[in-house]
Amino acid sequence: MDAIGVDIGGTKIAAGVVDEAGTVLSQVRLDTDPDNPGAIEAAVISAVAQLRRTHTVGAVGVAAAGFVSPRRDAVLFAPNIAWRDHPLRERLAAGIDLPIVVENDANAAGWAEFRFGRARAVEDMVMLTVGTGLGGALVLGGRLLRGAHGAAGEIGHMQVVPGGHYCGCGHEGCWEMYGSGRALTRSARAAAVAYPDRAGALLELAGDKKIQGPHVTAAAQAGDPLAIELFAQLGFWLGVGIADLAAAVDPEMAVVGGGVAAAGDLLLEPIRASFARHLSARGYRGELTIELAELENEAGIVGAADLARN
Ligand code: BGC
Ligand code: NA
Ligand code: ZN
Repeated sequence: MDAIGVDIGGTKIAAGVVDEAGTVLSQVRLDTDPDNPGAIEAAVISAVAQLRRTHTVGAVGVAAAGFVSPRRDAVLFAPNIAWRDHPLRERLAAGIDLPIVVENDANAAGWAEFRFGRARAVEDMVMLTVGTGLGGALVLGGRLLRGAHGAAGEIGHMQVVPGGHYCGCGHEGCWEMYGSGRALTRSARAAAVAYPDRAGALLELAGDKKIQGPHVTAAAQAGDPLAIELFAQLGFWLGVGIADLAAAVDPEMAVVGGGVAAAGDLLLEPIRASFARHLSARGYRGELTIELAELENEAGIVGAADLARN
């Protein structure tokens, strides 16, 4: 049967009808306010209603950027959205008369890459979604790991720098603070202040606004040395953490997705170099490959729909 997948991000909602082969048949996108849970729910309900006008579906999967309960019905905590013990399924059920499953956004994206995308030929993979936050999914032996309390794969909150930058989860030095879109913009803005003579390209792209991730991507793609360095820094940290994941679960592939992955090789090459430098027992062990996600910004929708169907 076809199902609807909904991806609730920090700033937008995407919803789509997905068939059993993982193809998105129809899609809608809406802006959201991460500080207004009621508005998010109203937007999801209206997106689902809109899609059901032209398609018959059997379930709705909702991918949410936060810690999801083991029963897949609530968001326990979200570092970047105003959700605390939030009964998301119940709220949505008020306006959607279909079975609803709540999933972590990165779990949904990782599942989609595993089933239909870059990692479809492997059994053991990890997914990193590099967006506003840093999300993760662990698929081992063909199964998505949920953990005892639903929070397996919250890799963005592994601590990499004791006493480091303060994270929305309440701790300091989380991997997310060094390996995410937020980290990229933080260091870009800091660099623009510290080295204005090197930041000309970035400042020009940003105009009279603050520097955003896409500005750094555009500058790097145009060959700007500072922007390329910022991606190298981001890649360094991602490589460190992927080496840690290799130590913990030894997957065959790490897939890198999320908005920041649009930078492609500018991000991937430094990740690979840093991973190689940090992998323990390198040269005496099998090594995972690091690849870009294939489904891009449809991964969350596709994975959420597929997980809701099963
Ligand atoms: C959240 C995760 C989420 C990730 C990507 C992290 O801050 O803790 O639940 O998957 O961001 O959105
Ligand atoms: Na996850
Ligand atoms: Zn954290």
